[in-house]
Amino acid sequence: MLQNTLGHTSLGEERSEKVDDALRRHQGEAGALIPVLQEVQRSFGYISKENMAYIARALKLPLSEVYGVASFYAQFYLEPRGEHMVRVCLGTACHVRGGEKILESFAEALGIRPGETTPDKRFSLERVACLGACGLAPAAMIGEKTYGRLTPEKVTEVVREYVGPAH
Ligand code: FES
Repeated sequence: MLQNTLGHTSLGEERSEKVDDALRRHQGEAGALIPVLQEVQRSFGYISKENMAYIARALKLPLSEVYGVASFYAQFYLEPRGEHMVRVCLGTACHVRGGEKILESFAEALGIRPGETTPDKRFSLERVACLGACGLAPAAMIGEKTYGRLTPEKVTEVVREYVGPAH
């Protein structure tokens, strides 16, 4: 019980400390909102409502403006994302080499649609415009790792690497 309480406290402190650090770094800058949101997202993987309200107060901006900016840019996530971010490329090079099929294969293997997160919070699926690996088209990334020349069969194998064999 005591441990639980302590755990919660330190998590909360760490949370606001990181937001405070971001705010300090961009203090007094015109247009501080976007870099602060970027740092907060880098720290937590998304921007919670709580953190949006905190940032709005600190930057003396209306919450509606912070929410407006955070929801306008595709780079910001307003919900927690999965532990593994799966980015499937649908840029020109990947598109012509069957990127859509690769996206479908990932969606099927993970049981989610693009923009969704698995219920166990392990994976989020996203389509992107170019991963800078056009020579490996069709390509996808899981976290920082790039997978190239994908086929639906390879997608199944790759997902199995992360999920483990079926029970
Ligand atoms: S178009 Fe897919 S990696 Fe560039």
